[in-house]
Amino acid sequence: MERQEFLKTLGISFAVACAGSCLSACGSKGDTGKPNPTPTPGGGGTGNTVSISISSKLANIGDQTTMNGVLFFRIATGNTSSSFVATEALCPHQGGNLVWLNNQTKIQCQLHQSEYTTSGAVTQGPQNSSGSTRPLKIYATTISGDTITATVV
Ligand code: FES
Repeated sequence: MERQEFLKTLGISFAVACAGSCLSACGSKGDTGKPNPTPTPGGGGTGNTVSISISSKLANIGDQTTMNGVLFFRIATGNTSSSFVATEALCPHQGGNLVWLNNQTKIQCQLHQSEYTTSGAVTQGPQNSSGSTRPLKIYATTISGDTITATVV
């Protein structure tokens, strides 16, 4: 085989190999190569919702849990939306963890102790820190069977 003929054959083989791998890589269904415009908060929900099991996480008054950026807590008996609150898990001031203090009926930041009502109103701003906070977002919830779902907006 002449050198020129060998290189020509090699070039055709290389082109076929590249075309095959490119087609298989680009041909997978559902992969547009573009980022998802509405990312899922995580495994607990779909779209802009976050769901958890009531019986395993929020069975009793005062129970609380955080899932995918949402703090859920129970404030009353019964499995209706009014028995639960879903809000931001992190403080708007500087991102401290928020917890529900059931015996004091308030949401408190663990970093600078800002405090909020169950409707999200600020009752105490950051302590020993500059800046201010804003009211918390309170997310609407729906209940289906044993699952509570918060719609994150
Ligand atoms: S981070 Fe919550 S009050 Fe500062």
